[in-house]
Amino acid sequence: HRGAGLLAPENTLAAFRHGLAQAYRMFECDVRLSKDGQLFLLHDDRLERTTSGTGVAADCPWPALARLDAGSWHSATHTGEPLLQLDELLAFCQQAGCALNIELKASPGQEERTGRAVAASVVRQWTTQPWPLLSSFSVAALAAAAAQAPQLPRALLAERCSATALAAALELGCVAMVLEAGALTEAEVATVHAAGLAVLCYTVNECEVAARLLDWAVEGIITDRVDVFDPAAAACCGGRR
Ligand code: G3P
Ligand code: MG
Repeated sequence: HRGAGLLAPENTLAAFRHGLAQAYRMFECDVRLSKDGQLFLLHDDRLERTTSGTGVAADCPWPALARLDAGSWHSATHTGEPLLQLDELLAFCQQAGCALNIELKASPGQEERTGRAVAASVVRQWTTQPWPLLSSFSVAALAAAAAQAPQLPRALLAERCSATALAAALELGCVAMVLEAGALTEAEVATVHAAGLAVLCYTVNECEVAARLLDWAVEGIITDRVDVFDPAAAACCGGRR
């Protein structure tokens, strides 16, 4: 989740390096557009929480964003850690042999532009298989990504697994739904599976919750606790993986 959750500054290269060192081989990240059309990683619409900047990120051109410190807010060890461009992360993941889930974080009004730009960038730069999974809460962003590059797998994010959300995911040709773990029920997992889609869950930081979801046969969990869940272990979460 955001590279390595809370253990390094989220969505920076330091976070992905940390996750890799913990034996993780698939990452979730949040991607958005700068004012001048560069794709970079940032969770929030605004800069204040995780960078030395202020204001709305989508109002800033990349040269200004590139000068920001995206590490000091987390810890002194990471002072000076810069924001990360999507291109850099695509290169890092391919070099390291890691899979990637790119969440499209479209700033308001930028949904279609963001979906198109991410899809075009992935097709241009990703040379291995499997393709990165593109996910979003935004139907418009996913529809634009599908129009740009229909071959890229898509997943609809939703806080609740409603019939409307499942119908939208099917309409978008999604391969999965990414659902908020706390609200999810076993019956909902079965319904999504019966519709032919995989189920991924966010954000799972407790072993008991992970074990319950694995019992329900979800295909993936997204976690901050890369220090607790060891993907290289023969067994975790009470013997279930
Ligand atoms: O992609 C799963 C999860 O990251 C969605 O929520 O707010 O952490 O981006 P958020
Ligand atoms: Mg996210």
